[in-house]
Amino acid sequence: MGRAFVYVILGGGVAAGYAALEFTKRGLSPGELCIISEEPVVPYERPALSKGFLLPEDPARLPSFHTCVGANEERLTPKWYNEHGIELVLGTQVKSADLRRKTLLTAMGETISYKILIIATGAQALKLEEFGLNASDCDNVCYLRDLANATRLVDVMKSCPGGNAVVIGGGYLGMECAASLVINKITVTMVFPEAHCMARLFTPKIASYYEDYYTSKGVKFVKETVLSSFDIDSDGKVTGVNLRDGSWLPADMVVVGIGIRPNTSLFEGQLTLEKGGIKVNGQMQSSNSSVYAVGDVAAFPVQLFGEIRRLEHVDLARKSARHAVAAIMDPNKTEDFDYLPFFYSRVFTLSWQFYGDCVGDVVHFGDFLGNTFGAYWVNKGQLVGSFLEGGTKEEVEAIAKATRLKPTIEDLAELERRGLGFALTI
Ligand code: FDA
Ligand code: NAD
Repeated sequence: MGRAFVYVILGGGVAAGYAALEFTKRGLSPGELCIISEEPVVPYERPALSKGFLLPEDPARLPSFHTCVGANEERLTPKWYNEHGIELVLGTQVKSADLRRKTLLTAMGETISYKILIIATGAQALKLEEFGLNASDCDNVCYLRDLANATRLVDVMKSCPGGNAVVIGGGYLGMECAASLVINKITVTMVFPEAHCMARLFTPKIASYYEDYYTSKGVKFVKETVLSSFDIDSDGKVTGVNLRDGSWLPADMVVVGIGIRPNTSLFEGQLTLEKGGIKVNGQMQSSNSSVYAVGDVAAFPVQLFGEIRRLEHVDLARKSARHAVAAIMDPNKTEDFDYLPFFYSRVFTLSWQFYGDCVGDVVHFGDFLGNTFGAYWVNKGQLVGSFLEGGTKEEVEAIAKATRLKPTIEDLAELERRGLGFALTI
């Protein structure tokens, strides 16, 4: 048995939602598009899962954060897909893909064929087992990638009020979950191998601001070490965490955020891969001209850096999805994707934004004891990256513009002296 569509989006996450909206804006006909997703719900704004979803009071729940509310666009509920004649195949994993025949085989045994395929399979959380630790099946060990994980995390949190959580990993997820756990009155210890949190992006000076802030909220940091084993009781619950430095931490729950792996396995040997993702050109088109890739799974040319990159952030998921659809529906009018990388996070009452690339010399500016501070990255004499905590809308737009312009910087001391004023007057 099988069905045939003009367009199929494989994956029903952030990118899928934004692609669907773009299709309808460009004149999609009913019955032309199908979205296949392992998740049982229509696309939603995944960033809500580590923020509003975990709040103790008035938490965000679907349908309030279906895409595309994250960009102040229409909220795409199941009714919306229905009204636009978009076929939804939910709660269904695609088990194999035959790109020569242009078919996908689902776990239900159905063959779905396409003329154009958009791969939007995102990524999966790395498991503790990959580091030689067998504990992922424990009742109180939580990952956070999808709605089911988030629902479970809330249940585990509620099962140990006032208890101790060990958060493993000092990246985006670790930082955002630690803040949410504190808001839920759970005592948090963060454990990670690096010398400071958010080592992929933060400088030691920026990291120390956030670590001090978290410390003031009661969070403890155990740095430059990793786990060696778990104490697990007869009910299959973790009760303590042993670290390689010999120390022990009590645990009523464990949250793991140790990175992700893009979901490319269906396409290995069929498409060119790079940087762990599916390599695409400036039209988001893969090495097979009928197949596009967007979001976390795509390795695409970042014109600004003259390099292929894979980025794991929601802004890229939204914009790359829309770009792929523009390239598919309007190929002659669609220029190559010219993307300014943008990352952000919100924790407690803090909020930061970053644009560009974090390479080269760093110049800090602003008041690190107050509310507004930031940094510029200067590489080979040009400004390539900008970070701002606590900025106004106008200030954030200014650092974005300055980073996009890549101005020549001759004097780092002068840039430091001018600080945010440099971006505001460029
Ligand atoms: P996404 O992961 O959203 O969707 C992939 C979809 O494909 C899923 O529905 C999955 O089930 C499905 N799928 C995969 N394989 C399949 C198969 N074989 N068959 C069927 N379906 C399949 N970013 C940011 O910039 N700011 C932020 O604050 C946050 N916050 C944040 C919080 C949390 C908890 C997470 C996990 C992530 C973030 N992110 C973020 C990152 C951001 O959410 C991420 O970059 C986007 O969701 C990527 O969108 P995609 O559509 O590429 O993948
Ligand atoms: P990450 O790559 O940001 O951080 C991974 C962290 O794992 C590292 O910082 C490191 O501290 C830690 N780590 C690695 N090996 C370890 C080990 N053996 N023991 C202990 N810690 C170890 O990934 P993440 O924080 O897991 O986030 C998952 C995904 O979700 C990423 O794609 C991220 O971009 C995305 N996300 C983004 C945001 C945002 O942009 N605001 C928020 C949440 C999640």
